[in-house]
Amino acid sequence: MEIKYLGHSCFLLTINGTRILFDPFISYNSLASQINKEEIRADYILLSHGHQDHTADAEYFAKKNNATVVAIFEICEWYKTKEIENVVPMNIGGKVKLPFGTVRMVTAIHSSVLPDGTYGGNPAGFVIETGEKTFYFAGDTALTYDMKIIAEQYQIDFAFLPIGGQLTMDLDDALLAANWIGTNRLIGMHYDTFPTIQIDHQAAIDTAQKAGKELTLIPIGETINI
Ligand code: NI
Ligand code: MN
Repeated sequence: MEIKYLGHSCFLLTINGTRILFDPFISYNSLASQINKEEIRADYILLSHGHQDHTADAEYFAKKNNATVVAIFEICEWYKTKEIENVVPMNIGGKVKLPFGTVRMVTAIHSSVLPDGTYGGNPAGFVIETGEKTFYFAGDTALTYDMKIIAEQYQIDFAFLPIGGQLTMDLDDALLAANWIGTNRLIGMHYDTFPTIQIDHQAAIDTAQKAGKELTLIPIGETINI
């Protein structure tokens, strides 16, 4: 699959021709100013929680591309009030089969409110089985023992984990999380966007390597293949 990094926790994945956009936050991200939203097409938009730094551009893509929003029930209800009818409401522990794979919504320890103050339900992560790869998108979360459940149920090939600290796990917690979910391959997210979550990239990669983990920090706008 192809993974394009659009900054913060926003990734565009292409899986067997289907384009899945995670946590779109481009317009208000000064680090992503080179990203042209017009050129991005999404078939599905997966939202981990309601905070603006994860949802800011979801309405734009849902309307421009007629994309389907996949999120917790409360967030889907909020998008329905914005005349977005293509939604897949889920809740923690639930699974749904979509054209690109099976998506399970899993626990995240965080908070969630929509940009206008509407209750956003619980924050969440996703485990996705595509048939070729199985991966975990953690969303914004603390380290939690619930991650061990993921290793009991899945063979995780790689994981998108927050590493910036203060608002989420930092790298040390993410390395422990990687042990608990049973993967050595990490893609970092939720770092550098704000002054309080800036990290030293090379130091982070070296720290991960010493822990036996491969940490990939994709430059914004670039694509990797996994
Ligand atoms: Ni958040
Ligand atoms: Mn966030």
